Amino acid sequence: MPDTAVLEHIDPRALRDCCGRFATGVTVITTRTSEGDHGMTVSAFMSVSLDPPLISISLDRRSRMLGKIRKSCRFAVNILTQDMRPHAMHFAGRPDDTLTNLFQDRHGLPTLRSAAALLVADVAREVEAGDHVLFLGQVRHLDYAPDARPLLYHRGQFGSLAAHL
Ligand SMILES: Cc1cc2nc3c(=O)[nH]c(=O)nc-3n(C[C@H](O)[C@H](O)[C@H](O)COP(=O)(O)O)c2cc1C
Repeated sequence: MPDTAVLEHIDPRALRDCCGRFATGVTVITTRTSEGDHGMTVSAFMSVSLDPPLISISLDRRSRMLGKIRKSCRFAVNILTQDMRPHAMHFAGRPDDTLTNLFQDRHGLPTLRSAAALLVADVAREVEAGDHVLFLGQVRHLDYAPDARPLLYHRGQFGSLAAHL
């Protein structure tokens, strides 16, 4: 039987739109190098393993963050709350001058004030994956606000939970 996945051409735009039907949260990845502190909005974050504690993020090869994490070998995942849409846009290449004093130092990395949760990880492995690179991170520190309401991302739009869970 022919392997249709090999025969069929997958249109990149259709693939993006299809995967966009999967609702996610929104994170800002932060790191620190000798050049300074840097943040980038990322929805491709997932929990991978509890024992050992591993997480993963997927970064576009063209992102500046890629080279920075390769240098620092560390990153923080800041999970955004529903009122942090401006932060999501700010760290996605749309700088917002009204956002000031964004970072606080924690565990030797810049982290976002008032995030819903924070995970600090060391890079355990890097995997080349087409036009993206996956980083597998070993979690070293974590913290979370138990009742924080998350920012959601679905079909290219931001949202929030309708009901209180
Ligand atoms: C909601 C949202 C989610 C995003 N998720 C990702 C992602 O998972 N991976 C990625 O490479 N870029 C993602 N981006 C795009 C980057 O945030 C954007 O290209 C950014 O400007 C790259 O930053 P840098 O090149 O300064 O490091 C996302 C953007 C938005 C608005």
